[in-house]
Amino acid sequence: MKKIMIILVLFLFLIGCEQINPNPEPTDPCIINPDDETCDQLPYDEDIDQQIQEFLFEMSLEEKVGQMVQAERSSVTPTDVSTYYIGSILSGGGSHPTAFNDSADVWYQMVYDYQYAAMNSGANIPLIYGTDAVHGHNNLYGATIFPHNIGLGAANDPELVYEISKATAKEMLTTGITWNFAPALSIVQNIGWGRSYEGYSENPEIFESLTQSAIKGYEENGVSATAKHYLADGATTNGIDQGDVNLSEQTLRDIYLLPYIEAIEAGVDTVMISYSSINGVKMHEQAYWIQDVLKDELGFEGFVVSDWNAIQQLSGSYQEQVAKSINAGVDMLMEPYTWRDAIEAIKTNVEANIISMDRINDAVSRIIRVKLESGLFDNPYAREDTAVLYSDEHQALAREAVRRGLVLLKNDNQSLPLEKNESIYLTGTASDHVGYMSGGWTTYWQGNTSADIGVGTSIKNAITNVLNENSGQIVNNINDAQTVVVVLSELPYSEGVGDNQILTLTGGNADPNNLNALNIAQQAHQNGKNVVGILISGRPLLLGDYLQYFDSFVAAWLPGSEGGLGIADVIFGDYDFTGKLSYTWPKSIAYVGYNSNREDYDENLVQFPYGYGLTYA
Ligand code: GLC
Repeated sequence: MKKIMIILVLFLFLIGCEQINPNPEPTDPCIINPDDETCDQLPYDEDIDQQIQEFLFEMSLEEKVGQMVQAERSSVTPTDVSTYYIGSILSGGGSHPTAFNDSADVWYQMVYDYQYAAMNSGANIPLIYGTDAVHGHNNLYGATIFPHNIGLGAANDPELVYEISKATAKEMLTTGITWNFAPALSIVQNIGWGRSYEGYSENPEIFESLTQSAIKGYEENGVSATAKHYLADGATTNGIDQGDVNLSEQTLRDIYLLPYIEAIEAGVDTVMISYSSINGVKMHEQAYWIQDVLKDELGFEGFVVSDWNAIQQLSGSYQEQVAKSINAGVDMLMEPYTWRDAIEAIKTNVEANIISMDRINDAVSRIIRVKLESGLFDNPYAREDTAVLYSDEHQALAREAVRRGLVLLKNDNQSLPLEKNESIYLTGTASDHVGYMSGGWTTYWQGNTSADIGVGTSIKNAITNVLNENSGQIVNNINDAQTVVVVLSELPYSEGVGDNQILTLTGGNADPNNLNALNIAQQAHQNGKNVVGILISGRPLLLGDYLQYFDSFVAAWLPGSEGGLGIADVIFGDYDFTGKLSYTWPKSIAYVGYNSNREDYDENLVQFPYGYGLTYA
């Protein structure tokens, strides 16, 4: 009898599952506890395709179109979300709820309010909130700031990259944000490009090693990742941001498509289209590369999002721009401020049969699929405990990443490692500036040029700590110093602001104070001091005749909040250098763009070749 009862109860339960309402009433926020992954909502039934078909059947055109538009938080309210059935909202670089130092609670409340509106309107489809957490949750004051990708490429350790993505995902979830516009899969061919530091390398083999880890670290820890910017964003002529790529289809397939094949294999949820064009045709209207190659040939099942206002660079009226991009295979329009116009334009195009309902249903089903598979329906209010923010574990991980990304380019006369009881004279703006060490996409879109970003240890403070513990000292008079440490840097920049055809230590985006620091290095060298150079930059820079004044020289890239500690760990010898150049270091402006993808790559023509890096051992 008992067995029959159990079967009966099970049968009733299963029937209950079949009848489950895909549009549940909202529940209280569900905190994910480490020991308890469940929430008080019933898990959805497994047949996702069935659910998607039910949504498509039930949803109005307005509800479908709302899913295909992403608004910027500064231009949309929770009421708008309810009225227009908005499916996604983003924070652009530096777009905080109220102020740059808002707490995670303030962020979470903002996201919760949007989400509550979404769950209480239309088809009750949860909102997906996106942001650029490209080196930690870098919009959030107090988040761990990891090294930018150029340093991770020099470290080239998949495990490390996975752990950094995982840590970033957890810090994002303290604010309820479940979509990261990362990793950039930019295979950078010309370091004149302002986004060089967002790429791991010039060479696809580094992406072969790191792409899957970067993506799985997000997607296995509650955050949807974005493979960006499709296709060949790093291959524009002369590295011009949003420029033109003049390459054959075979070259595009042999080099630039490879990371996207890796990304799809890793199960990436979204792909962002590049502003750039290929052979004169803007990527955002390239139906061949988006629909035919990415979706049909490679089998990408997630959704494609346009870049910020990017469709407005297409020719024609706004309605035509919307039609071209969506008919090329873009599923969601990142139209931060013109999202109402985007909604109207999509509807007008559908009513005029310029965009088919099949295309609309394909886009909406892809978006809903990602939301179902990522767990958003099961956990629309998911939140990670704020104890993970800048935790000891995350600080240690970031510090290790700094160490592993440093590249020792020169070390004559055993200049390094330093003794911990030395007298050291330190100079250079970036020697005492966590903002400069973090670079672009930190607190603000163009980075933070004030020293306080809420976390971190400067190079000066880290070195001072070591010396103080070992009866060494920082001296204010250079004549009292055995070693002179000269920190050179670029000013923080993002995207086109960093486009630079000068690339010297004293021009382009270089910190103007570098000239003074270089003069000090020259004098110190002539006075027989041990001169150590540390370069904080988003790319290799032309060293010209200055290298001769340094006994040792370290490429530190953009190491982030733990830059000071990681650098001190290595220059005092607690750890050896392990980093290898993932970018060719050119000798002159004429050889910028000359890199290891060439068949005839000649290492004698460059300052330091791809793969170069000294060690103490
Ligand atoms: C920017 C960038 C892109 C970023 C997006 C949202 O212009 O091109 O990488 O994800 O807009 O901030």
